[in-house]
Amino acid sequence: MAPPPAALLLLLPPALAALLAGAAAATRAPPRSIAVVGAGIGGSAVAYFLQQHFGPQVQLDVYEAANVGGRLATVTVNKQQYESGGASIHSLNLHMQDFVKILGLKHRREVAGKSAIFSGEHFVLEETDWYLLNLFRLWWHYGISFLRLQMWVEEVMEKFMRIYKYQAYGYAFSSLEELLRSLGGEAFVNMTQRSVAESLLEVGVTQRFVDDVIAAVLRSSYGQSVLVPAFAGAMSLAGAQGSTWAVEGGNKLVCSGLLKLTKANVIPARVTGVSLHSSEGRALYQVHYEDDEGQGSGFYDMVVLTAPLHPSKSNFTFQNFEPPITDFPGAFQPSVTSVVHGYLNSSYFGFPDPKLFPFASILTTDTPDLFFNAMDNICPVNISSAFRRKQPQEAAVWRVLSQQPLDKQQLKTLFRSYYSVQVTEWQAYPHYDSAKSLPPIVLHDNLFYLSSVEWVASSMEMVAVAAKNVALLAYNRWYQDLEKIDQKDLMHKVKTEL
Ligand SMILES: Cc1cc2nc3c(=O)[nH]c(=O)nc-3n(C[C@H](O)[C@H](O)[C@H](O)COP(=O)(O)OP(=O)(O)OC[C@H]3O[C@@H](n4cnc5c(N)ncnc54)[C@H](O)[C@@H]3O)c2cc1C
Ligand SMILES: *[C@@H]1O[C@H](CO)[C@@H](O)[C@H](O)[C@H]1NC(C)=O
Ligand SMILES: *[C@@H]1O[C@H](CO)[C@@H](O)[C@H](O)[C@H]1NC(C)=O
Ligand SMILES: *[C@@H]1O[C@H](CO)[C@@H](O)[C@H](O)[C@H]1NC(C)=O
Ligand SMILES: *[C@@H]1O[C@H](CO)[C@@H](O)[C@H](O)[C@H]1NC(C)=O
Repeated sequence: MAPPPAALLLLLPPALAALLAGAAAATRAPPRSIAVVGAGIGGSAVAYFLQQHFGPQVQLDVYEAANVGGRLATVTVNKQQYESGGASIHSLNLHMQDFVKILGLKHRREVAGKSAIFSGEHFVLEETDWYLLNLFRLWWHYGISFLRLQMWVEEVMEKFMRIYKYQAYGYAFSSLEELLRSLGGEAFVNMTQRSVAESLLEVGVTQRFVDDVIAAVLRSSYGQSVLVPAFAGAMSLAGAQGSTWAVEGGNKLVCSGLLKLTKANVIPARVTGVSLHSSEGRALYQVHYEDDEGQGSGFYDMVVLTAPLHPSKSNFTFQNFEPPITDFPGAFQPSVTSVVHGYLNSSYFGFPDPKLFPFASILTTDTPDLFFNAMDNICPVNISSAFRRKQPQEAAVWRVLSQQPLDKQQLKTLFRSYYSVQVTEWQAYPHYDSAKSLPPIVLHDNLFYLSSVEWVASSMEMVAVAAKNVALLAYNRWYQDLEKIDQKDLMHKVKTEL
């Protein structure tokens, strides 16, 4: 039986319409099997959401070439684990909040610490103990810029948060442009095409504030300049302003937890490509992979890619697709985290007496000679209530972010001496000023590219939002519920649809 035309449903009493829609859904079996490529937060969240929508009988295979968690990972120093990848989560990141609740995980306690912005020679801005003095200093240095920044970020966040309501009502978007347009109109789409500096100057933030403060925040979050697009910029500025948290035991526990909850089959293999076949008149996807034993493949009704595709990943191939699936422009930005256990060289920062060094977090301005982007005195992923920060003259664990691995000389500049250094070289996030158009979400009927969202902004929550969107989109497309895809005027619809 074909699903009743949408127009007809509108004429029927709601209860009857729902019944018919349900009957239509029942006529098509759910997909037999779904492949998810990647077991980071994107892959584990989409596996969870797909199962929520399609039900437990669907076979879910999650391919992971390296480690569950992906860019959420820890390193061990002195028997304690520390975040080496994605570290902090904004308090308004509702999907991440939900996952933690569902999995029975806990928020890790915040340990207070002061921040400052370093120019390579001196601190251009220092946080103090006294809130009013901080505000006064900001005001003194930068006038109304600070207030204008806050208003701008708040407006973006408020509109962005509409997504949770749309998703709760089952609405999905088939492209990033449609998603952004429904949240904040054409202006939101534009925010992926112009720089954060340009947008802020336009609302009256001064150049000096952009150079000192905005640049420092973007260097510490994306390792990039104020040429980062406005939308991604707003998301990292929100993270810098609001209260943030992390998952006790490590953020990666969300990934392993969700995969366990969905009972997905995690297959340790590198996927090399996807080829299209048809069976009984419908698309079937063959996922090719290689593992320790050699090469293999599996057939699926649906595939979700949650690993970013870019030219240096050109050995990921798509076969038999017409038109061909090629060309994923845009480079990825390498970023290095060095977790160093040692004694800070406070002299380098202008504090000859280490006891007097007051900061736990050092951001930097865009200065050519500076060889690092930011450094933080970090806490282990498990901390007891008795935990306190080390005194500044004691050995501590610092996380240094840089573009290139630090050489011995550079380490000796930042640290008087150190016990250990653990280096992780990440393909961290898109290099934002290189790709201008947003990649697609739908690559073929039931083949989805979740990681495209990273070109809007790259964070755990953005990826989780994209995971929910892909799951809803896949479901709505499977059951031809076109009323729930790319709808206009959703603000109005969700208000009246109670
Ligand atoms: C240093 C650093 C700091 C960050 N800080 C923050 C932060 O404070 N807050 C925040 O919200 N975000 C932060 N981020 C960003 C955040 O970590 C990422 O946006 C998020 O973790 C991406 O998740 P993902 O699942 O999309 O991708 P990934 O985590 O990269 O997962 C993709 C997975 O796919 C696997 N894979 C790749 N190719 C294949 C293949 N061919 N076959 C099989 N498997 C494959 C990979 O091994 C990986 O496990 C940070 C990132 C970095 C690198
Ligand atoms: C979006 O950008 C285009 C060109 O850059 C501009 O003409 C248009 O006015 C912008 N729209 C909004 C709503 O900002
Ligand atoms: C760390 O926290 C996690 C999550 O709460 C817990 O499962 C784990 O046992 C803890 N580990 C230690 C060493 O306390
Ligand atoms: C390309 O494939 C090889 C072997 O299959 C793999 O080792 C390499 O990492 C891949 N390159 C990229 C950029 O994914
Ligand atoms: C510490 O910083 C000072 C000042 O920049 C520098 O002269 C010194 O070489 C650095 N390293 C050590 C180990 O003190």
